[in-house]
Amino acid sequence: TPRVWTTLDGEAPLVIAHRGASGDRPEHTIEGYTLAIEQGADVIEPDLVMTSDGVLVVRHDHYLSTTTDIADHPEFADRQRVQGGRNDWWVEDFTLAEIRTLRARQPWPERDQTHNDRYLIPTFEEVLDLAHSHGVRTEPEIKAPGHFVTIGLDPLPELVRILRARGLDTADAPTAIQCFEPDFLARLNGEIETPLLMLVFPMIELDPDADPLTPTVALTDAATFADGVGPAKSLVMSADGTDTGFVAEAHALGLSVHPWTFRDDVPVADGVNIESELRRAFEIGVDGVFTDFPATAIGVRADM
Ligand code: G3P
Ligand code: CA
Repeated sequence: TPRVWTTLDGEAPLVIAHRGASGDRPEHTIEGYTLAIEQGADVIEPDLVMTSDGVLVVRHDHYLSTTTDIADHPEFADRQRVQGGRNDWWVEDFTLAEIRTLRARQPWPERDQTHNDRYLIPTFEEVLDLAHSHGVRTEPEIKAPGHFVTIGLDPLPELVRILRARGLDTADAPTAIQCFEPDFLARLNGEIETPLLMLVFPMIELDPDADPLTPTVALTDAATFADGVGPAKSLVMSADGTDTGFVAEAHALGLSVHPWTFRDDVPVADGVNIESELRRAFEIGVDGVFTDFPATAIGVRADM
Protein backbone atom coordinates (compact mmCIF):
# COMPACT_ATOMS: atom_id res chain seq x y z
CA THR A 1 0.00 0.00 0.00
CA PRO A 2 1.21 3.51 -0.69
CA ARG A 3 2.55 5.41 2.28
CA VAL A 4 0.13 7.84 3.95
CA TRP A 5 2.04 11.09 4.52
CA THR A 6 1.12 13.44 7.36
CA THR A 7 2.19 16.54 5.47
CA LEU A 8 -0.17 19.52 5.28
CA ASP A 9 -1.45 18.52 1.84
CA GLY A 10 -1.05 14.74 2.23
CA GLU A 11 1.54 14.65 -0.56
CA ALA A 12 5.06 13.27 -0.20
CA PRO A 13 7.46 15.77 1.43
CA LEU A 14 9.62 17.83 -0.92
CA VAL A 15 13.36 17.26 -1.19
CA ILE A 16 14.91 20.74 -1.41
CA ALA A 17 18.50 20.95 -2.67
CA HIS A 18 20.05 23.38 -0.18
CA ARG A 19 22.27 25.76 -2.20
CA GLY A 20 22.18 23.05 -4.93
CA ALA A 21 23.77 19.65 -4.38
CA SER A 22 26.14 21.55 -2.12
CA GLY A 23 27.56 18.45 -0.42
CA ASP A 24 29.10 17.40 -3.74
CA ARG A 25 29.73 20.63 -5.67
CA PRO A 26 30.61 24.24 -4.78
CA GLU A 27 27.36 25.79 -3.53
CA HIS A 28 25.21 28.09 -5.64
CA THR A 29 26.64 27.14 -9.04
CA ILE A 30 24.83 26.00 -12.18
CA GLU A 31 26.83 22.76 -11.91
CA GLY A 32 25.66 22.20 -8.32
CA TYR A 33 22.03 22.91 -9.19
CA THR A 34 22.25 20.71 -12.29
CA LEU A 35 23.55 17.80 -10.23
CA ALA A 36 20.63 18.25 -7.81
CA ILE A 37 18.18 18.20 -10.72
CA GLU A 38 19.83 15.05 -12.12
CA GLN A 39 19.56 13.42 -8.70
CA GLY A 40 15.81 14.09 -8.73
CA ALA A 41 15.45 16.99 -6.28
CA ASP A 42 11.94 18.47 -6.26
CA VAL A 43 13.17 21.97 -5.43
CA ILE A 44 16.43 23.89 -5.70
CA GLU A 45 17.25 26.68 -3.30
CA PRO A 46 19.07 29.83 -4.43
CA ASP A 47 20.06 32.34 -1.73
CA LEU A 48 20.04 35.87 -3.20
CA VAL A 49 22.14 39.01 -2.72
CA MET A 50 22.51 42.22 -4.78
CA THR A 51 25.42 43.46 -6.89
CA SER A 52 26.34 47.18 -7.02
CA ASP A 53 24.48 47.46 -10.33
CA GLY A 54 21.30 45.98 -8.88
CA VAL A 55 21.46 42.40 -10.13
CA LEU A 56 20.27 39.54 -7.92
CA VAL A 57 23.00 36.89 -7.86
CA VAL A 58 23.14 33.65 -5.91
CA ARG A 59 25.34 33.60 -2.80
CA HIS A 60 24.56 32.72 0.78
CA ASP A 61 26.72 35.52 2.18
CA HIS A 62 27.26 39.01 0.85
CA TYR A 63 30.98 38.67 1.49
CA LEU A 64 32.95 36.81 -1.13
CA SER A 65 36.11 35.40 0.46
CA THR A 66 34.80 32.01 1.58
CA THR A 67 33.04 30.74 -1.54
CA THR A 68 35.04 32.36 -4.37
CA ASP A 69 38.65 32.82 -5.52
CA ILE A 70 38.52 36.62 -5.07
CA ALA A 71 41.60 36.63 -2.79
CA ASP A 72 43.62 35.43 -5.79
CA HIS A 73 42.56 38.38 -7.98
CA PRO A 74 45.24 41.09 -7.68
CA GLU A 75 42.97 43.60 -9.42
CA PHE A 76 40.61 43.44 -6.42
CA ALA A 77 43.32 43.55 -3.74
CA ASP A 78 42.41 47.10 -2.68
CA ARG A 79 38.65 46.51 -2.68
CA GLN A 80 38.45 44.86 0.74
CA ARG A 81 36.78 46.82 3.52
CA VAL A 82 35.49 46.34 7.04
CA GLN A 83 31.75 46.00 7.50
CA GLY A 84 30.05 44.70 10.64
CA GLY A 85 33.46 43.91 12.10
CA ARG A 86 34.49 41.76 9.12
CA ASN A 87 37.25 42.67 6.66
CA ASP A 88 36.19 41.19 3.32
CA TRP A 89 35.07 41.81 -0.24
CA TRP A 90 31.33 42.64 -0.34
CA VAL A 91 29.07 41.70 -3.23
CA GLU A 92 27.34 45.10 -3.10
CA ASP A 93 30.68 46.78 -4.04
CA PHE A 94 31.06 44.79 -7.29
CA THR A 95 29.25 44.92 -10.61
CA LEU A 96 27.89 41.78 -12.22
CA ALA A 97 30.69 42.00 -14.81
CA GLU A 98 33.25 41.93 -12.02
CA ILE A 99 31.47 39.10 -10.20
CA ARG A 100 31.59 37.13 -13.46
CA THR A 101 35.40 37.10 -13.33
CA LEU A 102 35.29 35.12 -10.06
CA ARG A 103 35.13 31.34 -9.75
CA ALA A 104 33.39 29.36 -7.02
CA ARG A 105 35.03 27.35 -4.24
CA GLN A 106 33.87 24.66 -1.85
CA PRO A 107 34.02 26.26 1.61
CA TRP A 108 33.87 22.98 3.58
CA PRO A 109 37.45 21.61 3.80
CA GLU A 110 36.25 18.01 4.30
CA ARG A 111 34.22 18.07 1.06
CA ASP A 112 35.37 17.46 -2.52
CA GLN A 113 37.69 20.32 -3.56
CA THR A 114 38.31 19.07 -7.11
CA HIS A 115 35.61 21.32 -8.61
CA ASN A 116 37.12 24.55 -7.29
CA ASP A 117 38.02 27.59 -9.40
CA ARG A 118 35.99 26.52 -12.44
CA TYR A 119 32.36 27.54 -12.00
CA LEU A 120 30.79 30.98 -12.38
CA ILE A 121 28.56 32.83 -9.93
CA PRO A 122 25.11 32.66 -11.59
CA THR A 123 22.37 35.26 -11.63
CA PHE A 124 18.98 34.52 -10.07
CA GLU A 125 17.38 34.61 -13.52
CA GLU A 126 19.76 31.94 -14.85
CA VAL A 127 18.95 29.67 -11.91
CA LEU A 128 15.19 30.16 -12.21
CA ASP A 129 15.27 29.39 -15.91
CA LEU A 130 17.41 26.29 -15.39
CA ALA A 131 15.05 24.90 -12.73
CA HIS A 132 11.77 25.65 -14.42
CA SER A 133 12.95 24.37 -17.80
CA HIS A 134 13.35 21.02 -16.01
CA GLY A 135 10.01 21.25 -14.19
CA VAL A 136 11.79 21.69 -10.87
CA ARG A 137 10.44 24.06 -8.23
CA THR A 138 12.46 26.86 -6.62
CA GLU A 139 12.60 28.32 -3.12
CA PRO A 140 14.63 31.52 -3.43
CA GLU A 141 15.73 33.12 -0.16
CA ILE A 142 16.23 36.88 -0.06
CA LYS A 143 19.25 37.43 2.19
CA ALA A 144 19.43 40.48 4.47
CA PRO A 145 16.97 42.72 2.57
CA GLY A 146 17.05 45.27 5.40
CA HIS A 147 20.79 45.73 4.86
CA PHE A 148 20.41 46.12 1.10
CA VAL A 149 17.57 48.66 1.52
CA THR A 150 19.85 50.68 3.83
CA ILE A 151 22.50 50.97 1.11
CA GLY A 152 20.00 51.85 -1.62
CA LEU A 153 19.78 48.39 -3.19
CA ASP A 154 16.25 47.29 -2.27
CA PRO A 155 15.90 43.76 -3.70
CA LEU A 156 12.08 43.86 -3.80
CA PRO A 157 11.45 45.65 -7.14
CA GLU A 158 14.01 43.46 -8.93
CA LEU A 159 12.57 40.29 -7.39
CA VAL A 160 9.04 41.28 -8.42
CA ARG A 161 10.19 42.18 -11.94
CA ILE A 162 11.89 38.81 -12.40
CA LEU A 163 8.91 36.83 -11.07
CA ARG A 164 6.38 38.80 -13.16
CA ALA A 165 8.39 38.39 -16.34
CA ARG A 166 8.04 34.61 -15.94
CA GLY A 167 4.45 34.48 -14.69
CA LEU A 168 5.73 33.39 -11.28
CA ASP A 169 3.73 36.05 -9.43
CA THR A 170 0.57 33.94 -9.40
CA ALA A 171 -0.75 31.83 -6.55
CA ASP A 172 -0.04 28.55 -8.33
CA ALA A 173 3.57 29.35 -9.32
CA PRO A 174 6.12 26.62 -8.52
CA THR A 175 8.06 29.01 -6.33
CA ALA A 176 8.19 29.81 -2.62
CA ILE A 177 9.92 32.99 -1.46
CA GLN A 178 11.84 32.63 1.78
CA CYS A 179 13.18 35.32 4.07
CA PHE A 180 14.38 35.67 7.66
CA GLU A 181 12.88 39.17 7.80
CA PRO A 182 9.09 39.24 8.28
CA ASP A 183 8.84 42.87 7.14
CA PHE A 184 10.11 41.93 3.71
CA LEU A 185 7.52 39.15 3.30
CA ALA A 186 4.79 41.52 4.48
CA ARG A 187 5.86 44.07 1.81
CA LEU A 188 5.98 41.34 -0.81
CA ASN A 189 2.45 40.28 0.08
CA GLY A 190 1.22 43.63 -1.17
CA GLU A 191 3.04 43.32 -4.52
CA ILE A 192 2.41 39.81 -5.81
CA GLU A 193 -0.08 36.99 -5.45
CA THR A 194 2.84 34.76 -5.15
CA PRO A 195 3.24 31.54 -4.16
CA LEU A 196 4.22 30.34 -0.86
CA LEU A 197 5.85 32.86 1.41
CA MET A 198 8.10 31.14 3.93
CA LEU A 199 9.30 32.86 7.08
CA VAL A 200 12.61 31.34 8.09
CA PHE A 201 13.13 30.68 11.82
CA PRO A 202 14.97 31.40 13.97
CA MET A 203 15.91 34.93 13.14
CA ILE A 204 19.46 34.53 14.35
CA GLU A 205 20.66 36.66 11.44
CA LEU A 206 18.79 39.63 12.87
CA ASP A 207 19.75 39.04 16.48
CA PRO A 208 22.94 37.04 17.04
CA ASP A 209 22.13 36.84 20.75
CA ALA A 210 18.74 35.22 20.18
CA ASP A 211 18.24 31.69 21.45
CA PRO A 212 18.44 29.64 18.24
CA LEU A 213 15.82 27.20 19.56
CA THR A 214 13.18 29.85 20.18
CA PRO A 215 11.36 31.47 17.26
CA THR A 216 11.25 35.23 17.67
CA VAL A 217 7.95 35.44 15.80
CA ALA A 218 4.98 33.45 17.13
CA LEU A 219 3.51 30.96 14.67
CA THR A 220 0.13 32.68 15.03
CA ASP A 221 1.73 35.96 13.88
CA ALA A 222 3.64 34.24 11.06
CA ALA A 223 0.35 32.84 9.79
CA THR A 224 -0.93 36.38 9.17
CA PHE A 225 1.61 37.04 6.39
CA ALA A 226 3.31 33.72 5.55
CA ASP A 227 2.14 30.38 4.15
CA GLY A 228 4.92 28.36 5.68
CA VAL A 229 7.93 28.44 7.96
CA GLY A 230 11.52 27.28 7.63
CA PRO A 231 12.67 26.27 11.12
CA ALA A 232 16.04 24.94 12.18
CA LYS A 233 15.46 21.16 12.40
CA SER A 234 16.06 21.33 16.17
CA LEU A 235 12.75 23.21 16.49
CA VAL A 236 10.97 20.22 14.94
CA MET A 237 12.71 17.39 16.77
CA SER A 238 15.30 17.01 19.48
CA ALA A 239 18.60 15.21 18.90
CA ASP A 240 17.11 11.90 20.12
CA GLY A 241 14.26 12.21 17.61
CA THR A 242 11.54 13.39 20.01
CA ASP A 243 8.79 15.31 18.21
CA THR A 244 8.61 18.82 19.72
CA GLY A 245 5.04 19.34 18.50
CA PHE A 246 6.11 22.25 16.28
CA VAL A 247 4.90 20.64 13.03
CA ALA A 248 1.43 19.85 14.42
CA GLU A 249 1.12 23.39 15.76
CA ALA A 250 2.15 24.91 12.41
CA HIS A 251 -0.13 22.59 10.43
CA ALA A 252 -3.08 23.53 12.66
CA LEU A 253 -2.48 27.14 11.55
CA GLY A 254 -2.26 26.10 7.89
CA LEU A 255 1.51 26.68 7.76
CA SER A 256 3.73 24.21 5.92
CA VAL A 257 7.10 23.38 7.49
CA HIS A 258 10.43 23.09 5.63
CA PRO A 259 13.22 22.51 8.21
CA TRP A 260 16.96 22.90 7.57
CA THR A 261 19.65 21.60 7.20
CA PHE A 262 20.20 17.84 6.77
CA ARG A 263 23.89 16.96 6.25
CA ASP A 264 25.95 13.83 6.68
CA ASP A 265 29.07 15.50 7.96
CA VAL A 266 27.72 17.18 11.08
CA PRO A 267 27.14 14.64 13.88
CA VAL A 268 24.12 15.59 15.98
CA ALA A 269 24.17 12.83 18.63
CA ASP A 270 25.35 9.24 19.07
CA GLY A 271 23.54 6.90 16.69
CA VAL A 272 22.07 9.78 14.69
CA ASN A 273 23.00 10.17 11.05
CA ILE A 274 21.51 11.94 8.07
CA GLU A 275 19.34 8.95 7.14
CA SER A 276 17.86 8.48 10.61
CA GLU A 277 17.27 12.21 10.98
CA LEU A 278 15.52 12.46 7.63
CA ARG A 279 13.35 9.41 8.34
CA ARG A 280 12.29 10.89 11.67
CA ALA A 281 11.50 14.28 10.11
CA PHE A 282 9.37 12.57 7.44
CA GLU A 283 7.55 10.55 10.15
CA ILE A 284 6.80 13.75 12.06
CA GLY A 285 5.15 15.14 8.93
CA VAL A 286 7.41 17.90 7.64
CA ASP A 287 6.41 19.22 4.21
CA GLY A 288 9.94 19.51 2.84
CA VAL A 289 13.56 19.14 3.91
CA PHE A 290 16.51 21.36 3.03
CA THR A 291 19.48 19.08 2.47
CA ASP A 292 23.01 19.35 1.09
CA PHE A 293 22.60 15.72 -0.09
CA PRO A 294 19.35 15.48 -2.08
CA ALA A 295 20.10 11.97 -3.39
CA THR A 296 20.25 10.70 0.20
CA ALA A 297 16.92 12.28 1.10
CA ILE A 298 15.26 10.88 -2.02
CA GLY A 299 16.54 7.40 -1.06
CA VAL A 300 15.22 7.65 2.50
CA ARG A 301 11.82 8.87 1.29
CA ALA A 302 11.58 6.05 -1.25
CA ASP A 303 12.20 3.44 1.48
CA MET A 304 9.37 4.64 3.71
O1 G3P B 1 16.48 28.86 3.91
C1 G3P B 1 16.52 27.79 4.80
C2 G3P B 1 17.91 27.64 5.17
O2 G3P B 1 18.62 27.66 3.99
C3 G3P B 1 18.38 28.73 6.07
O3 G3P B 1 19.71 28.54 6.29
O4 G3P B 1 21.68 29.92 6.38
O5 G3P B 1 21.62 27.98 4.84
O6 G3P B 1 20.33 30.01 4.33
P1 G3P B 1 20.88 29.14 5.40
CA1 CA C 1 18.87 29.56 2.59
